[in-house]
Amino acid sequence: VWLERGHECCSIGAQGEYAGLAAIKAYLNSKGETHRLVCLIPKSAHGTNPASAQMAGMKVQVVEVDRDGNIDIAHLKAMVDKHKTNLAAIMITYPSTNGVFEENISEVCELIHQHGGQVYLDGANMNAQVGLCRPGDYGSDVSHLNLHKTFCIPHGGGGPGMGPIGVKQHLAPFLPSHPVVTLKSDNTLSSLGTISAAPWGSSAILPISWAYIKMMGAKGLKHATEVAILNANYMAKRLEKHYKILYRGVRGFVAHEFILDVRPFKKTANIEAVDVAKRLQDYGFHAPTMSWPVAGTLMIEPTESEDKAEMDRFCDALVGIRHEIAEIEEGRMDSRINPLKMAPHSLACISSSTWDRPYTRESAAFPMPFVKPETKFWPSISRIDDIYGDQHLVCTCPPMDIYESPFEQERASS
Ligand SMILES: *Cc1c(COP(=O)(O)O)cnc(C)c1O
Ligand SMILES: *[C@@H]1O[C@H](CO)[C@@H](O)[C@H](O)[C@H]1NC(C)=O
Repeated sequence: VWLERGHECCSIGAQGEYAGLAAIKAYLNSKGETHRLVCLIPKSAHGTNPASAQMAGMKVQVVEVDRDGNIDIAHLKAMVDKHKTNLAAIMITYPSTNGVFEENISEVCELIHQHGGQVYLDGANMNAQVGLCRPGDYGSDVSHLNLHKTFCIPHGGGGPGMGPIGVKQHLAPFLPSHPVVTLKSDNTLSSLGTISAAPWGSSAILPISWAYIKMMGAKGLKHATEVAILNANYMAKRLEKHYKILYRGVRGFVAHEFILDVRPFKKTANIEAVDVAKRLQDYGFHAPTMSWPVAGTLMIEPTESEDKAEMDRFCDALVGIRHEIAEIEEGRMDSRINPLKMAPHSLACISSSTWDRPYTRESAAFPMPFVKPETKFWPSISRIDDIYGDQHLVCTCPPMDIYESPFEQERASS
């Protein structure tokens, strides 16, 4: 049973995780099992999972993943056995953060239930499931939906998010309540309490998801999921001849995202993920997720939103970059001064009267025919030393006088 109640809405996914775990804890406590505090979390989990578990007062225990990025079942069994008397929950992401549909997800959920634990299924990757499958069916007791991921609330640049949770019937009495807004179904006696200052969280953004769902309809939402998975597999297939795709499912497919392994180029060409990310700017693209969930790699999630031409341009750019890496590998290009290490190339850099690099300005700024002078998006700044900036914080606190009104400034100067 999936319950939909407004005030479980939290401001972000991580807060949904916290609410879900708190509900699990309240449920276990109600059964007199206050000692159940162990939360198992696979190594492949999103960083918010262990943070939320810690916040909810649970003890995090890490489960290993196997070579293919799946939960290591043997290790999971050992961990469940070790902690069976104190097991509270497992937090799993499905499809996993490694971009793979976990083969034995039902067995994993069952194993936890057999030993008195609850399953928190991180629903942030619902973009690969909406209309196709339901977490409740394969064993989840509670999941959050990231409306700012799957349901269209834009969240670039630190924008707002929303992570409502859905729970099975037995957890319903323990959901959060609110002193201002009480629903008929509220059971204030067993509720875990209030976790969000505003009863419906950042409610102003909810009409976006509502309108999206209304306009797409059941068929449209399912189609979006299918296209999101198809797009990721299309791109993975196009890129596999040039890069290693780190993880795939047993049938060779990825879910809605995949990881490009660029780590080998460190040895062969002195090239790292950051160099590829910066060079993508010269091709007109914002870099995909870097060094997450695996350090030194790039994770690509095309979603359902981009058309084939755009995906092809993105793949072409990555193939172009691979050729540039090959030039370094084969000794035809300097390993320190090259288009990748010096990327991105700003207009100031390209138009400077001194140019002493072993590659042309043209190849730096217009590396592919689709990067045209008329439409090029110029990076505003060349490479800076990221680490220097992180280690040398600068206070930009402006002086008090900028707060003075013109009238007061005039008075002061007269
Ligand atoms: C994004 C994400 C989260 C956390 O969501 P936030 O809104 O960033 O707090 C949790 N798990 C997974 C798998 C995610 O992708
Ligand atoms: C899933 O379970 C089956 C049957 O127990 C097993 O053969 C298979 O190796 C498991 N898959 C993974 C990825 O662990």
